[in-house]
Amino acid sequence: MSDQKIIAIIGATGAQGGGLARAILASGGGQFAARAITRNVDSDKARQLAADGAEVVAADLDDEASLERAFDGAYCAYCVTNFWEHFSPEKELAQAANLARAAKRADVRHAIWSTLEDTREWVTLDDKRMPTLMDKYKVPHFDAKGEADAFFTEDGVPTTFLLTSFYWDNFIHFGMGPQKGPNGSLAIAFPMNGEKLPGIAAEDIGKCALGIFEKGDELIGETVGIAGEHLTGDEMAAAFTRVLGQEVRYNAVPPEVYRGFGFPGAEDLGNMFQFKRDFNEYYCSVRDVEASRALNPDLEDFETWLGRNKERIPLG
Ligand SMILES: NC(=O)c1ccc[n+]([C@@H]2O[C@H](COP(=O)([O-])OP(=O)(O)OC[C@H]3O[C@@H](n4cnc5c(N)ncnc54)[C@H](OP(=O)(O)O)[C@@H]3O)[C@@H](O)[C@H]2O)c1
Repeated sequence: MSDQKIIAIIGATGAQGGGLARAILASGGGQFAARAITRNVDSDKARQLAADGAEVVAADLDDEASLERAFDGAYCAYCVTNFWEHFSPEKELAQAANLARAAKRADVRHAIWSTLEDTREWVTLDDKRMPTLMDKYKVPHFDAKGEADAFFTEDGVPTTFLLTSFYWDNFIHFGMGPQKGPNGSLAIAFPMNGEKLPGIAAEDIGKCALGIFEKGDELIGETVGIAGEHLTGDEMAAAFTRVLGQEVRYNAVPPEVYRGFGFPGAEDLGNMFQFKRDFNEYYCSVRDVEASRALNPDLEDFETWLGRNKERIPLG
């Protein structure tokens, strides 16, 4: 029987968990084996993971017993929720609570909870700088994750709290790529003013997570922030210009304008960018690039990522 330790991976068919699964599988006969958890073991992505050597197991974040079964016998668990599937902080909280209880009951020795800040610790609900959303949140998809940290702590799960960063992949998949303005020139737009936005290649998140698991107990109980590079909007636009060979500008749209863009989640993201802008020194300081590279020596900077992905970026 193999003496590899099993890492049970929530979201293994997605960006974060997928990066972790691929990193484990690439390490071949290393100390860990990948158990990919998905609701649909017959999807193309699940079948690909199985073909690449992962154990594929069915479970649903809404079903605690299924999670406990999926975690059974695992040494580590990567825990992530997908706010953007349902846009409900309450559902995200319930799913995180299920994860924490299941990890405890299955006696997981090291969990990573993919979290973000509860921004209400910086901007209280009565703070008028940004609107309160859904009655009790400032940045719903951040606040619920940060609030859920306590579930892991209170349930006594040995956990590393992983603070992720803005995926550069949002320029491909999330409608944030360069858009043509009325004069035909391309621009990226987000409300960071001249402050730096920590970003990361989504694939690198899983590689950093593997680096955390490889450290054994060292980072249990710690909060670890990761980023590939911290760049201003102008610096990102300059990288786009160099890599695409056509001018891309940065439009520092104000948060109140961004919140009114009208796409689903625009208010949440407007508040999110404002939080990153207004508390920029803190926000950058907890996402150290060199510490991230120490966990993942392959960590990409923005221009490297862009060079690899330029054909995939839709130019609106
Ligand atoms: N975009 C960004 O810049 C950014 C930055 C930091 C953090 N985040 C956070 O990242 C999270 C999403 O992670 P991701 O980007 O890795 O996701 P993703 O690529 O959209 O994939 C979602 C994954 O979650 C799994 N999943 C969703 N609901 C599930 C359920 N009920 N039971 C079991 N599995 C479920 C899916 O598995 P199956 O469909 O196979 O079951 C899939 O593997 C969000 O909460 C977001 O707030 C995003």
